[in-house]
Amino acid sequence: MQVLESIQAVQQSSQAFKAVGNSVGYVPTMGYLHEGHIELIKRAKKENDIVILSIFINPLQFGQNEDLDAYPRDREHDLKTAEEHGVDVVFYPTESIMYPRPMSLAISVNKRTDVLCGRSRPGHFEGVVTVLTKLFNICQPDRVYFGMKDAQQVAVVDALIEDFNFPVELVAVSTVREEDGLAKSSRNVNLSAEERAEAPAILEALMLGRSLVENGEKNPVEIRAQIRQFLENKTHGRIDYIELLSYPALEAVDTVKGQVILAAAVHYSKARLIDNIVFEADGTAG
Ligand code: PAF
Repeated sequence: MQVLESIQAVQQSSQAFKAVGNSVGYVPTMGYLHEGHIELIKRAKKENDIVILSIFINPLQFGQNEDLDAYPRDREHDLKTAEEHGVDVVFYPTESIMYPRPMSLAISVNKRTDVLCGRSRPGHFEGVVTVLTKLFNICQPDRVYFGMKDAQQVAVVDALIEDFNFPVELVAVSTVREEDGLAKSSRNVNLSAEERAEAPAILEALMLGRSLVENGEKNPVEIRAQIRQFLENKTHGRIDYIELLSYPALEAVDTVKGQVILAAAVHYSKARLIDNIVFEADGTAG
């Protein structure tokens, strides 16, 4: 496994692999690799000859009240994990390599951001699409892999690729779950035993919403109300939001139709959990 720090070295490496007919899959991360990332690497390995992984904590996507310095880092663990799972190239740049001077240009994100978690993170997705524009140009992949746990990020990346015609296929990988359905997250360790026992109710509530839709209920207000009631009965967590939107456009709907996302965020004492399901309102596989 090669660990490269320079932009030029990664560009040359990707181009050289592709010149001899290899396909390149790419997994962008901010490090501190967990099972969700490993799932992305495994899928990228399955579908490509070569896998590039990047590890870069992107300062542009952190808000003023979000602590960049507190973001967890573990270089040794990350490189070992990448190697064990067959990554071919790790791009591990420093901040001065990625941003040698203040940027002269900015990309603004006009849609898909003022809902779900994006509503409380102004500027976050501008930072994400800016770094991904650079990373796509550096890693030059055929396919890029993102987890559906952050479905809003997938929707924004989908728009980035479409709007700017990046020659990259977006592969959205299903959320990795515990046996009881709770979405895996590094935040789950911050749940008390009682909260951990209650937390699978988030997915159960979303699945209840899905079955309401599939059984003919098309009014989003009614569906959200029933999900809220279910969650309030099943967990002491404070509901941050329950949303039902079109997907990937992330627009409010009067009547549920086409592909939709049902998403919820719940605050527990020391963790805020998010989860979502994307499905077709007419009951076909989503
Ligand atoms: O999902 C993440 O870890 C980051 O938002 C990403 C895609 C690596 C961009 O910095």
